[in-house]
Amino acid sequence: MESLHLTATDKKGRYEELLPQVEALVSTETDLIANLANVSAALKEAFGWWWVGFYLVRDEQGQSPRLVLGPFQGPLACTSIAYGRGVCGTAWMQAKTQVVPAVEAFPGHIACSSASKSEIVVPLFVGNTVIGVLDADSEFLATFDAIDAEYLEKLVAVICKFIK
Ligand code: SME
Repeated sequence: MESLHLTATDKKGRYEELLPQVEALVSTETDLIANLANVSAALKEAFGWWWVGFYLVRDEQGQSPRLVLGPFQGPLACTSIAYGRGVCGTAWMQAKTQVVPAVEAFPGHIACSSASKSEIVVPLFVGNTVIGVLDADSEFLATFDAIDAEYLEKLVAVICKFIK
């Protein structure tokens, strides 16, 4: 599916359709991994992005805290990302959405694939703590904007509302 050439209205329309679907999915299942897997599939289906999925914070004794690859749709990806590294590690450290129109211009960007040209990363919160990130990658430049940030933040808030 084409992920470029979406008007702002079309883009908002797709998110507006998706949000109640996501709420229906995550409100009826308590398992986080199952829910993240289905949300990845729903996003891939709706927007056709190159890669979309989740990294989850793992803070195990004797190891540095890191983001570990979770459910996703798309090609193989890096499995482990350190705090503050790349776009994902920066979103975690700053507890703030990162919209990156050109990944090559982002200092420290981690290139899991040379096909990826632009990216958005949105943190998942439980209380004030970042427990993971949603990452979407596009093979086109400047795919993501403030509309994606607004709606993906709403979408992850729906997921996090149901985390037990
Ligand atoms: N590009 C990301 C790494 C994850 S992959 O793109 C799936 C980053 O810089 O954090």
